[in-house]
Amino acid sequence: MAEVASVLFRREDIRGRVDELGRSITRDYAARAPVLISVLKGGSIFLADLIRVIRLPVAIDYMSISRYGGAVESMGRVRIVKDLDEDIGGRDVIVVEDIVDTGLTLSYLLSVLESRQPASVEICALLDKSARRIAPLDIRYTGFDCPDVFVVGYGLDVGERYRNVPDILAVADVGAVTEDPDLLLPFVEGEPPTA
Ligand code: IMP
Ligand code: MG
Repeated sequence: MAEVASVLFRREDIRGRVDELGRSITRDYAARAPVLISVLKGGSIFLADLIRVIRLPVAIDYMSISRYGGAVESMGRVRIVKDLDEDIGGRDVIVVEDIVDTGLTLSYLLSVLESRQPASVEICALLDKSARRIAPLDIRYTGFDCPDVFVVGYGLDVGERYRNVPDILAVADVGAVTEDPDLLLPFVEGEPPTA
């Protein structure tokens, strides 16, 4: 059987890159107190690792959105299911995303956030699938350029599964995984958690 999925970004490379991004943000926002916003659920894993390497008094906040169909059909328009807890007026905002694909969702969200008059808004995306970009976006911080493949792990899901895989996997046959969601279990069970 052909391989259904393979490791695209290894956990140690992710960790190294997250450390670098944290250092860049620490430098760029010296003497400031940015608020990092994550869009649930995928970005929350990246955010959790990222804030622990930022040496600044950061705040975090979450938004949950629901799409009207796919990103393209909806032109990125989303319904805000859970809004931010705090007012971002006058704040330096960093939107932390797992992956930017067409960019439609994020560009819509940016317009919502910018209407609240923050001091600044920047994007920090772990993965940039730039080949599929429809809405142009200026991504200030990028973890990795991502090829045009479906990826799971480190927060990214397929049908709400596999967000807990420590590596990022390229899924060669998404149809097969949709049909049999257990196919990628070896990547979850591969090794026991260390103490
Ligand atoms: P877009 O940039 O508006 O197309 O949507 C980006 C969102 O789609 C991301 O935040 C993910 O939730 C999801 N997404 C895009 N590509 C992938 C992928 O390869 N694997 C898992 N989720 C993805
Ligand atoms: Mg997302």
